[in-house]
Amino acid sequence: MSQFEPKPLNILILAAGLGTRMKSNLAKVLHRLDGRPLINHVCRTAAALAPEKVCVVIGHQGEDVQLAVREELDDSLVQFVWQNEQLGTGHAVNVARGLLESQDSTLLVLSGDVPMIRAETLAALVQQHRAHRGRGAACTILTVKLDDPAGYGRIVRDELGQFESIVEQKDATDEEKSIREINSGIYCFDTTKLFETLSHVKNHNAQGEYYLTDVPSLMRQTGEDVSIYRHDDPFEIEGINNRAQLAEMERVLRRRTITRLMLDYGVTFIDPKNAYISQRATIGRDTVIHPNVSIEGETVIGDGCTIRSGTRISNSKIGHGVEILDNCVITDAEVSGGARIGPFAHLRPAAQIGENAHVGNFVEVKKSRIGRNSKANHLTYIGDATIGENTNIGAGTITCNYDGKNKHRTEIGDNVKIGSDTMLVAPVKVGDGVVSGAGSVITKDVPPNKLVVGAPARAIRTLKSED
Ligand code: UD1
Ligand code: CA
Repeated sequence: MSQFEPKPLNILILAAGLGTRMKSNLAKVLHRLDGRPLINHVCRTAAALAPEKVCVVIGHQGEDVQLAVREELDDSLVQFVWQNEQLGTGHAVNVARGLLESQDSTLLVLSGDVPMIRAETLAALVQQHRAHRGRGAACTILTVKLDDPAGYGRIVRDELGQFESIVEQKDATDEEKSIREINSGIYCFDTTKLFETLSHVKNHNAQGEYYLTDVPSLMRQTGEDVSIYRHDDPFEIEGINNRAQLAEMERVLRRRTITRLMLDYGVTFIDPKNAYISQRATIGRDTVIHPNVSIEGETVIGDGCTIRSGTRISNSKIGHGVEILDNCVITDAEVSGGARIGPFAHLRPAAQIGENAHVGNFVEVKKSRIGRNSKANHLTYIGDATIGENTNIGAGTITCNYDGKNKHRTEIGDNVKIGSDTMLVAPVKVGDGVVSGAGSVITKDVPPNKLVVGAPARAIRTLKSED
C-alpha cells in the first residue's frame, strides 16, 4: 500500500453491556433518545463515515440490538459478534478479533452508549490518527475537558504533556480524580497493533475487568505512538450511564431542536420548554406550536399551521395552513392543506385527509381516504374506506369493516350526505349524491342519487335522474 493511500477504515461498536447503572431490564443501548435507541444514533453516524465494514459486539438482548442496528446499517456492511460474558471493554474488542485481525486496517472504536458524537468529529479524529508524524499513530484517543469528570476514565499526561495512561474512576487516586481531561471511550487504532497489545491486557483492577483503556499505555511502554485528539464540545462526548444523564441529554437535544426551528425556520413556540419535537421533524414558517405538543419521528409539517395543546403527531405529513385542535393523536397519516382536525380526533396509519376537509370531535380514521371539502365532524369511525369530495358524514356514523375474521372496504362517492348514526356494513359502495336517513343500516350497494332509509336500508325515492 502506498503511503498516500490510507489503510481501509473499519468501525467496531461496543454494545454488549446491560448497563447496570440504568437499573433497567432493557439493555442500555436500547433505551431511547429522541425516540430512537441509543445504538441507532451511533450506527447512523458510523454509516456517514463510509467505512468498509462495521462490527457490532452484542450480548445483553443481542437479538433486539441486532434488529435496531439493521434499521440503520445495510446487511452487506454490518457483522455481529457475541460477547456472552461481559468481562470488560478490552474483552469486548477481543471477541471481534476473528473478524478484524487479518486485515491491515484503521479501526475506529465507538461506544454504543455515546450517542451524540458527530461524523465530522470522528472524521477529524481518523485524519489526525492517519497523519500522525507522517506515518500514523498506533492509537489516537478522543478526549475532552469536563467541569465534572466524575465517572469517566481520566487522561494522565507526563511532564511534557504527552499521553501516559488512562485511569478509571474506580482505580484513581485523589490526585488523578482531580484531572478534568477524560477518555471519551472513542479511539482510532492501527488494527494489527491493537490486537497484538490486547493479548497482554490483564484484569488486575478494581472491577476485575479487561480494560480497553490499558491498551494505549501498554503501547506507549513498547515505544508506539499514542496521540490525543482533544475535542471542545463535551455534549458530543457524553456517555449515558444512568437515567438522569439520559433525561438531561434529551433536554439539551430538544432545546437545540426547538431553537433551530425558531431561528432558522420561523416556527413559533408558545412555550418552548414544553414542546417535544424530534430532531428529524421538519416544520414550516409561521406554524404555531402550543404547549404540550409532541412531534415525533420524521414528521413533516407545512407553513402556517396551528397545532394546539395535547396533540401528538408521529411520522406524519401535514400540509400548509392545517389547523389541528387540542388533544389529537396522528400517526403515520397524511393531512392535506387547509384541513381542520380535532379536537379529540384520532388519525391512525394510512389515514389520508383531503384539502380543506374536516375531521372533528371523537372521530377515528384508519386506512381511509377522505376527499376534498368532505366532513366527518362528530363521533364517527371510518376504517378501510374511501370517501369522495364534498361529502358529509353525519354524527355517529360507523363503517362496520370487520366481520370478526376479515376487514372489508367501504366506498362512498362525492356529494353524499350520510345521515346521523348510519351503519355501513362493508363491503359496500354508496354512489355519488346519495342521502341516507338517520339510523340507516346500509348492507347493500346503493346506486347514485338515491335516498335510503331504515334497517336494512332500502331505497324509497330517486333524488335526481342520472344524466
Ligand atoms: C468507559 C471507559 C472510560 C470512559 C467511558 C466513556 C473502559 C474500561 N472505560 O467506561 O475510560 O471514560 O467509557 O464513556 O473502557 N461493553 C461491552 N462489553 C463489556 C463492557 C462494556 O460491550 O464487557 C460496552 C457497553 O455496552 C458500552 C461500552 O462498552 O456500550 C462502554 O462500557 P461502560 O461499562 O459503559 O464503560 P464506562 O464505565 O462508561
Ligand atoms: Ca459508559
